[in-house]
Amino acid sequence: MVRETVLTPDRLVAPMFVVPGGGVRHGVPSMPGVERLSPDEAVKDARMLAGLGVPAVILFGIPALKDAEGSSAWDPAGPVPSAIAAIRAAVPGMQIWADVCLCEYTDHGHCGLLDGKGEVLNDATLPLLARAAVACARAGADAVAPSDMMDGRVGFLRAALDREALADTLIVSYAVKYASAFYGPFRDAAGSAPGSGDRRGYQMDPANAREALREAALDEAEGADILMVKPALAYLDVVRRVREGTRLPVAAYNVSGEYAMVKAAAERGWIDGERVMLETLTSIRRAGADLIVTYHAAEAARLLA
Ligand code: PBG
Repeated sequence: MVRETVLTPDRLVAPMFVVPGGGVRHGVPSMPGVERLSPDEAVKDARMLAGLGVPAVILFGIPALKDAEGSSAWDPAGPVPSAIAAIRAAVPGMQIWADVCLCEYTDHGHCGLLDGKGEVLNDATLPLLARAAVACARAGADAVAPSDMMDGRVGFLRAALDREALADTLIVSYAVKYASAFYGPFRDAAGSAPGSGDRRGYQMDPANAREALREAALDEAEGADILMVKPALAYLDVVRRVREGTRLPVAAYNVSGEYAMVKAAAERGWIDGERVMLETLTSIRRAGADLIVTYHAAEAARLLA
């Protein structure tokens, strides 16, 4: 009765890694319980999640082909648009978010186009992100979620979507995304580790919190509908400050490395994995996140039922 924070499945968003083909389920070694799925298998998981009361999924694509531009990112027959359409048809109530970034699609693994010297070209990347966003929105995504951290991309995507008569597609902005070592297992899953250099030129310095408020305010002004902070656990103070600085919903991304740490320690019997999971998710909500993107979504929803 006096509990201040309640954890319920309706605040969770489940990430999914989608690959081309049919009948594919490949486990991700550093993320026990997480699999790369072909669109038909993604439909089965989406149905299962809906049954557990999880209202939303966020899709990441692993294409058959990577090139310098990441051109598979806007292929309407690519794994993500295919999975969006299939889930939309089979699980009508499910909210579908599409992550929009180039790093899973480029052969160099950076989130944008590179110049000859290995520097990311911010403005030249924006039209490519817009093509990817429009392809996902046309396939039926409720929201696109740019995670690339190029400056000005929220406004650019908003304008591109509106021009294509996709004004109802929401933008969930990874507004505050740190250059974090906690993304390691995700990069294994997506094969998206940068081939050379790192992401510190476009992702944020973990030492900065005021800058997070600036990034959040810019994305809000450009038309973001939901603001995301990522990672979650090492940045709960940032989640709280972003929550207090906006009237938009705030999401926090409980990332792959946070998930892997719980799984690894629990496997060794060093912690009680289920209790740590629920405590973690509760703490992210207590810090002020309205929504949590988490690989624990199905497991947590099952325990909370
Ligand atoms: C793509 C992207 C990443 C994650 C979400 N979108 C990887 C990165 O920035 O390297 C990480 C998610 C996770 O670790 O669970 N840019």
